[in-house]
Amino acid sequence: MSIKSIVILTGAGISAESGIQTFRASDGLWENHRIEEVATPEGFAANPALVHKFYNARRQSLTRVTPNPAHIALATLETAMQNRGDDFLLVTQNVDDLHERGGSRALLHMHGDLKSSKCLGCDWVGPQTGDTSIDTRCTRCDSRATIRPDIVWFGEMPYFMDKIERALQSCDLFVSIGTSGAVYPAAGFVQTAKAYGAKTLELNLEPSAGSLHFDETRLGPAGTLVPAWVDAILKP
Ligand code: APR
Ligand code: ZN
Repeated sequence: MSIKSIVILTGAGISAESGIQTFRASDGLWENHRIEEVATPEGFAANPALVHKFYNARRQSLTRVTPNPAHIALATLETAMQNRGDDFLLVTQNVDDLHERGGSRALLHMHGDLKSSKCLGCDWVGPQTGDTSIDTRCTRCDSRATIRPDIVWFGEMPYFMDKIERALQSCDLFVSIGTSGAVYPAAGFVQTAKAYGAKTLELNLEPSAGSLHFDETRLGPAGTLVPAWVDAILKP
């Protein structure tokens, strides 16, 4: 059967070979911070200066990393599929900009984006390149101390869920790359796609919490597995 519609989900594992630390590889710390401190609304309310500093450091580190062959291969697949009139959607849990820099365009950041900020005062959302702090003023409402990272923290609703659900219900193939399957709703995408008749493939360094739901799991580094898979998919 030729594949006419693909939905791909990526996680931190696709950026690991670019030098960005994954979340659960270490001892539960994320860049030496407990997740509760830097990835929850409560953590931000308790210590906004620490959270601004944490995301400033992660945003700055983006200048020191580059897309790896897995990012590039997904952009190649997107272009090829769109050129032949097929559907392609890339959903990432990652907040880095490596998919964009690798050439991906049909891309949804369901957990937010390091290169974006938002205002708690007026709901402004906009591009963020430099550092933020509790003194940063909102460019729209000029409030002080209302700017926060545009990151979906634990307990908050991920972005684009309606669009993602519709795509999962209509795709022929769902592929999960570099995610531990530890966090919902992303971890449940494979079951939705499967329930609506899609084939499901997992490309990961090691078995994940969701491996049992996939038709096929291939184990190895994304930088090797993804280009090989894309080449095979595009072979005439
Ligand atoms: N190639 C492929 N997979 C890899 C590689 C690699 N080079 N290196 C690591 N992995 C795999 C790991 O085996 C693991 O299964 O990537 C996965 C990374 O899992 P996590 O660190 O849990 O990251 P992720 O699944 O993206 O976390 C999901 O949890 O903390 C929240 O919001 C945060 O978006 C994040 C979400
Ligand atoms: Zn504002």
